[in-house]
Amino acid sequence: MIAPSILSADFARLADEVAAVTGKPGRGADWLHVDVMDAHFVPNLTLGLPVVRSLLASTDLPLDCHLMIENPDRWAVGYAEAGSYNVTVHVEAADDPAMLAKNLRAAGAKAGLAIKPNTPLEPYVDVLSHYDTLLVMSVEPGFGGQKFIASVLDKVRLARRMVDTGHLNLLVEIDGGINTETIEQAAEAGVDCFVAGSAVYAADDPAQAVQRLRSRAEA
Ligand code: DX5
Ligand code: ZN
Repeated sequence: MIAPSILSADFARLADEVAAVTGKPGRGADWLHVDVMDAHFVPNLTLGLPVVRSLLASTDLPLDCHLMIENPDRWAVGYAEAGSYNVTVHVEAADDPAMLAKNLRAAGAKAGLAIKPNTPLEPYVDVLSHYDTLLVMSVEPGFGGQKFIASVLDKVRLARRMVDTGHLNLLVEIDGGINTETIEQAAEAGVDCFVAGSAVYAADDPAQAVQRLRSRAEA
C-alpha cells in the first residue's frame, strides 16, 4: 500500500493536492498520511483536528493520522472519533500504550504505534499485540525530505518475522525518505505500507509518482 504524506503538499490547496493522488482503487493512493506535529514532541508545527475534520469531509481516502505530539493519551482519541481510519501514536510519548490502543479501537479506528529510528523495538513487542499497525520511522520525525536511515530495516525484519510466525497480527508501515530506490529495500525487508511525502508531492505528476512507487515496491 502507498500512503502519500500531505506534509509535502501545498497546504493552501489541500483538497486539490489530495485529489491529485486519488485514483481508482489499486492505482492511486491507498491511504492519505496526515502528519500532526505539536512543536513539543518534534520541533515543527503542522495541523490538528480541525484540518483533519475538513479532510475527512472532502475525501473518501482512509486517513492515516500520524500524531507526533506529547500526551497522545489525552488527544489521540479525538482523531479516531472524528473518523480517521488509522491513528498512530508514538511509543516514546504514550504513558499507557495498551490502554490507548483499546480506546482508539473503541472509538472506531485502527490503532497504530510509531517508533523513532533510535528506539529499540524489543521492549514493545508485548504491547504491539494491542495494535493494528506498526509505523517504523526511517528518519527523525519532524520534517519531510530527509535521508532514509537503512538500519531501521532490522526492526521491520523483526516485526515481519513476528507477523509471519503468528506472534503478532499487524501491518508494518515505514515513514521517511521513501523514494523509488529505498522503497525496494523496504519492500524486501517486509513492509506492507509505504508513506511517501516529497517523493510524491515534489514530483511534477503526483499520481504518476504514486504508481511508480507501487510498481517498484511490487518488483
Ligand atoms: C516526518 C513525517 C513523514 C514525512 C515524510 O516526520 O512523519 O510522514 O512526511 O516525508 P518524506 O517522504 O519526504 O521523507
Ligand atoms: Zn508521518
